Amino acid sequence: MEFTRNNRQLLSKIATNDRHGENSPYFDGWKAYDSNPYHPTHNPRGVIQMGLAENQLCFDLIEKWILENPDASICTAEGVDKFKDIAIFQDYHALKEFREGVAKLMGRVGGNRVTFDPNRIVTSGGATGANETVMFCLADPGDAFLVPSPYYAGFARDLGWRTGLDLVPVDCKSSDNFRITRAALEEAYEKAQRSNINVKGVIVANPSNPLGTVLDKETMRSLVSFVNDKNIHLVCDEIYAATTFSSPRFVSIAEIIQDMDCNRDLIHIVYSLSKDMGFPGFRVGIVYSFNDDVMNCARKMSSFGLVSSQTQFLLAAMLNDEEFVGNFLRESSKRLAKRHHAFTKGLERVGISSLKSNAGLFFWMDMRPLLKEQTVKAELELWRVIINKVKLNVSPGSSFQCSEPGWFRVCFANMDDQTVQVALERIREFVLQGKEEVDGSEKSKHWRKQNLRLSFSSSSRLYDEGLMSPAHMMSPHSPIPHSPLVRART
Ligand SMILES: Cc1ncc(COP(=O)(O)O)c(C=O)c1O
Repeated sequence: MEFTRNNRQLLSKIATNDRHGENSPYFDGWKAYDSNPYHPTHNPRGVIQMGLAENQLCFDLIEKWILENPDASICTAEGVDKFKDIAIFQDYHALKEFREGVAKLMGRVGGNRVTFDPNRIVTSGGATGANETVMFCLADPGDAFLVPSPYYAGFARDLGWRTGLDLVPVDCKSSDNFRITRAALEEAYEKAQRSNINVKGVIVANPSNPLGTVLDKETMRSLVSFVNDKNIHLVCDEIYAATTFSSPRFVSIAEIIQDMDCNRDLIHIVYSLSKDMGFPGFRVGIVYSFNDDVMNCARKMSSFGLVSSQTQFLLAAMLNDEEFVGNFLRESSKRLAKRHHAFTKGLERVGISSLKSNAGLFFWMDMRPLLKEQTVKAELELWRVIINKVKLNVSPGSSFQCSEPGWFRVCFANMDDQTVQVALERIREFVLQGKEEVDGSEKSKHWRKQNLRLSFSSSSRLYDEGLMSPAHMMSPHSPIPHSPLVRART
């Protein structure tokens, strides 16, 4: 599309820059799935979607509650008398009962070790909107936030596209289980300073997307000390808090600062019901700031992304039903644990390991032994084989700015048990096929690498041409590609 005429820019810089990431070739992963989606009977050789961090394991519990509580919906015979009150204009403070329900949920998810104040709950369009709102409150165009990598692929867009902020990765290493160290934070901070970049804060997702791990208390204390020492902000995106399914437990930053001598004005939480409750379509995001000015500004900004009052009304009833919420969270953890176990153990049996994790809707699969060489290019070659031959849409680590090639994020909670078995079987076949081919000839210990070389050579004709040529693989502005997961942003 032509954006300039007579040297005059017709559209805004935001409209014409490519920081949204949608034009990334990595969208091809989604295209591969969309054009050929797996179905057990209609399309059993289709692509299985494993790039979508959705929690679809407990809809039966939600549906049961909805049937048992028809008065919670304003479009039922039992609830219609509330229709007018709810349908008329609601201001940006959000319904009181809704804020109370969310505050209770956040407290419960944090093990009731800390109480959240409903008056500090500000609503937004999902965590996407909440993260952007916080950035608008804390930083100006050209300022930067430090982000421990690997990090959520949508952060670049959510934090930077419209705000004009930059992200500075804090390199975390697999040799240290991707722990966020003070040394790595200092290094990233100093590097930014040397380039005259004004660092306004650090943002972390706890539990981590894509790692599926929770931050330990020591790391969190060190993060708080770091931001205090530098007088910058700490934003904790706790969207996956209740997806923690085994020990160590999830610890909210709110609990940490309770026992620390620190400037609470620097601490902000982002929350959402997209993952913990499995409602990404409801677009319920939360900004919870300990800083009154930030809270007041975020509340005013929330006019741009309010949660519909109909949704608030339904959720107010659901979240204030404490017995239901307690059972739901317990059952959800159980089902996530079972699914995680089935997947990771299934992969272990064919020799594929993953980072030890206990939260999230995904795990971080280690395919480094399968790379031809330890480069992003080799990672993407392997990724294309997995999508196009094995027909699984998993996400390459480079989409998450991982500095070590060979890691892949695998989502496990957006499909049924049968699909899990099909996915595992495909991986098993893929790995065993390679092993047999090599065992039959030279008994190499490096059969995996050999196999993939074979796979690459057979697939390269198909996938290395045209759009998928290496020249098109990289964003022109970044050596590391964007995620293919643009549409669902998960
Ligand atoms: C860490 C993180 N933050 C924010 C989001 C956006 O969530 P929402 O659907 O609530 O906008 C996601 C979605 O995957 C995420 O993983």
